[in-house]
Amino acid sequence: MTSTFNGNEDAALYGNRFATREVPTREFPARGMPALDAMRLVGEDLALEGDPARNLATFVTTWMEPEAQRIIAENLHRNFIDHAEYPRTAEIEQRCIRMLADLFHAPGETTGARTQGSSEAIMLGGLSLKWNWRTRRAAAGASASSPNLVFGGDVHVVWEKFCRYFDVEPRIVPLQPGKYTIGPEDVRAHIDENTIGVAAVLGTTFTGHKDDIAGINDLLVRIKHERGIDVPLHVDAASGGFVWPFLYPDSAWDFRLEQVRSINVSGHKFGLVYPGIGWLIFREKADLAEDLVFTENYLGKTDSTFTLNFSTGSAMVLAQYYNLVRYGRAGYTYIMKNMQANARVLGEKLAAMGQFELIGADEEQLPLVAFRLAADNGFDEFDLAWQLAAERGWMVPAYTLPPDAQQVTIMRALVKETMSREHVDTLARDIAEACATLAKKGGAHELERNRIITGPGH
Ligand SMILES: Cc1ncc(COP(=O)(O)O)c(C=O)c1O
Repeated sequence: MTSTFNGNEDAALYGNRFATREVPTREFPARGMPALDAMRLVGEDLALEGDPARNLATFVTTWMEPEAQRIIAENLHRNFIDHAEYPRTAEIEQRCIRMLADLFHAPGETTGARTQGSSEAIMLGGLSLKWNWRTRRAAAGASASSPNLVFGGDVHVVWEKFCRYFDVEPRIVPLQPGKYTIGPEDVRAHIDENTIGVAAVLGTTFTGHKDDIAGINDLLVRIKHERGIDVPLHVDAASGGFVWPFLYPDSAWDFRLEQVRSINVSGHKFGLVYPGIGWLIFREKADLAEDLVFTENYLGKTDSTFTLNFSTGSAMVLAQYYNLVRYGRAGYTYIMKNMQANARVLGEKLAAMGQFELIGADEEQLPLVAFRLAADNGFDEFDLAWQLAAERGWMVPAYTLPPDAQQVTIMRALVKETMSREHVDTLARDIAEACATLAKKGGAHELERNRIITGPGH
C-alpha cells in the first residue's frame, strides 16, 4: 500500500494547511493561499480571544438584530464620504443628526457630524470650542495665545489627548476618595477669559454617574452675567446620551441648559450599533466654527466636510438609522429599562453577599454595577477579576480611580442588552464562587495581575 499522506493536496481536501504549520506573521507573503485557508487562519486566531457576550468591560455594542446585520453586510462597499455618489446615505446621516438634536432638546435648526466614535467627535467639538474662543478674543482685541479647557479627573483619556494634540492647557479638577464626579464648586476657580470651555460627563467611564451638569451650567450663566465671560459647556454624553433621555427624561443635562453648546454621543455604545459610529451635535449652527468646514469638489460635486477622517464606511450610519426608526423612544426606553432592572438585580445580589460595597447605586447611573470589596479578605479586586476570567471567562475589569482617588480600586460590570436575567444570576453565582476560591487560596500572583488587568475598558 502506498502512503496516504500527500502534503498540500490532502490538506486542501481534508483540512487546512495551518493545522500543522506556523502561520505567516512577519514577512510580506511571497504568494497567497486559497480563500478557505485564509478564512480559517483568521478564524482560528480569533477563537483564542474572549467571548464578547462575556465582555462586561466594554460599553460598546456586542449584538445587533439580524436585520441590522443584513443592512451592514449589504453596505460594506459604500464609502460614506462619496456624498455625490451616495446622496441617500448622506441624507440618512442628516436625519440621524436631526433626530439626535431633537432627542437632546435643541431649540431650533442645528448641525452636527457623524464621526468614528466619541473620540473623533470630542476632537472636533474641542476644536470648535478653541476656534470660537479665538474669534471672541480677536473681537475683544485680546491675545489668544494660551487657551485652557476645564474638566474633571473623571473624564475619559480622550480629553487629555485633545489638549495635548491641539495645544490646549488642561485644567483638571482632581477627584477625591468618595467623590467621583465634579460640580460647580470644583470648576469655579479654574475659569478665566482664556477658558475655551468646560467639559462635563454624562455617564462616566469609571462609575457611570454624571457630573453636576445643571450646577455647572448655572455657574457659567452667573459668570457670563457677572464677569462678562461667556464659557460654553460641552457635554461628553458618549455613554449617557442614549441612556438619560430614556431612563431619566426629566433630568436636564442637554440643550435645555443655556450654556450647553455641543454634545457628543457614541452610537456604538448605548445607541446599540456596532463600532464605529459617533455623533457630534451642536446647539445652533453658529456653534460650529465655519473655518473648520472644508469645501472640495473632487468627488464630483461641491461638498463640505467637517471630519478628521475622510473615507469611511456607510454601514454603521445606516445601522444607526435602522435602530432609531426600529426602536423609537418606546423601544429604546424598553431596552434601557431592562438593562437597568438587570443591573439592579446584580447589584442586590452582590450586596446580599455581604462582601461588597456598591458605588452610587441609588443615583442616576448607566446600566452597570460599580462595586468594590468592603473588607480585606486576603484578596483584592484585581485577584477577583483574574479569578473570574480564569474560571468562567467573564471579563469584569478592576481598576484604580484617577487622582486624587487613586487609592480606590473598583470593579465594574456593564449590563447590556444581551445580559439576560439568567446571565445575571450565573454571574452572581460565579462571583460568589470566585470569592470562595480566593478566600481559600489567597490572592493571585503579582505577575499574573499585571499581565491581565488593563484598565476600565471603554
Ligand atoms: C465618557 C467617555 N467619553 C469618551 C469615550 C471615547 O469614546 P469612543 O470609544 O466612542 O471613541 C468613552 C469611551 O468609553 C467614554 O466612556
